[in-house]
Amino acid sequence: MVCWCQPTERIQAVPDLFSPYTLKGVTLRNRIAMSPMTMYQSVDGKMNDFHLMYLGARAAGGFGMVFPEQVAITPDGRTTPACAGIWDDDQIEGHDRVTSMIRQMGAVPAIQLGHTGRKGSEVPPWQGGHQLPADHPDGWECVAPSAIPYGGDHSFPVHELTVDEIKAIHRSYAEAAIRAAEAGYEWLEMHYAHGYLGASFFSPLANQRTDQYGGSLENRARFHLEALDAVREVWPEKFPLTMRLGSDDHHPDGVQFEESLTAIGWMKEHGLDMADVSLGFNTDDMVDPPFGNMGFMVERAARVKRELDIPVTCSWNLGVPENADAVVREGKVDVVLLGRPALANPHWPVWAARELGHGDPFSLVPEDWSWWLKNFRGHDASIGLPPAKETAAEEEAA
Ligand SMILES: Cc1cc2nc3c(=O)[nH]c(=O)nc-3n(C[C@H](O)[C@H](O)[C@H](O)COP(=O)(O)O)c2cc1C
Repeated sequence: MVCWCQPTERIQAVPDLFSPYTLKGVTLRNRIAMSPMTMYQSVDGKMNDFHLMYLGARAAGGFGMVFPEQVAITPDGRTTPACAGIWDDDQIEGHDRVTSMIRQMGAVPAIQLGHTGRKGSEVPPWQGGHQLPADHPDGWECVAPSAIPYGGDHSFPVHELTVDEIKAIHRSYAEAAIRAAEAGYEWLEMHYAHGYLGASFFSPLANQRTDQYGGSLENRARFHLEALDAVREVWPEKFPLTMRLGSDDHHPDGVQFEESLTAIGWMKEHGLDMADVSLGFNTDDMVDPPFGNMGFMVERAARVKRELDIPVTCSWNLGVPENADAVVREGKVDVVLLGRPALANPHWPVWAARELGHGDPFSLVPEDWSWWLKNFRGHDASIGLPPAKETAAEEEAA
């Protein structure tokens, strides 16, 4: 298929939000990525027309990279029965349609592989988000590092994984990665955050094992390193392998950020190409949760980049264009991940480009729309976006 959108040729002394970004053999046309977001729209874990519409729209809207949701490596690794998966060859075709569309619209298709662990077997958020018991037709027994339920409305008994079962999960990661490559994804993120299985192995709040997978930091990171090894072995070397880490539980007995710095260093030695720095979410009992602060993961991500010399990305409250652009210009973050802003505005990159005085914002949409948006005779204020700001060059000339 023909790709409509080519990376804009802009030479910037200091990279900004709209500078292309290359990692391994993959180049994003800009530094704006749509963060993974669970959509609860699958049947039998398959991607369908909904995903094609929703993900294709964001790619056509100018995002440089587009993640679908966390994609489950096993059926019990889903959040709900309506969540997407890649544990079966029959699921490849749906993903393939999605990746083809994303690529055709000029963006890079990325996948986030995950297992929800003790946060599975749920009903969707708008139906309460609570957990269903194992004997419910839509429920299942959740697995975890230790037999400790998450708590609150997630308090049904959970199964403590045996070592053999852990190894089987690592094999499932690798098999899922093989399918992901076959389905056309070019970027793979392991989900080790947000209270899901990886995050729970990392956190003393959830992991109280006394074997090689629990206790010391080295043991609590073993699950991650072994999963990375398994995936690295099968995932094409030319494509980036990244992970989203629950780097802080904001709880005195949970994951501390300093531990995460050490563990990310180990992951780098195991073939990690980029760190996506996020929260642990292993408890609702967080001390001073940072949700009201703009860009609250940025300084942590910047520290990872500085101290470990590894590319970084992060999400959380980066939807104001000036802020997103600044964190790239200041060299704190290589790629900005947007969750809710991408939901709210599929054309966020075009809007941001106009806000930031980008010389050619409509170069971000498919060529035919772009032509009409640039050439149609009509009032600029009636285009559906706020008036464009002047570019720096125009400002200088004025
Ligand atoms: C509807 C929704 C679903 C989400 N699902 C996932 C997911 O599947 N995997 C994940 O890592 N994060 C998930 N997140 C978190 C987002 O990827 C992102 O990290 C978070 O929304 C913060 O970014 P924002 O401030 O730009 O929204 C979800 C967020 C939303 C709003």
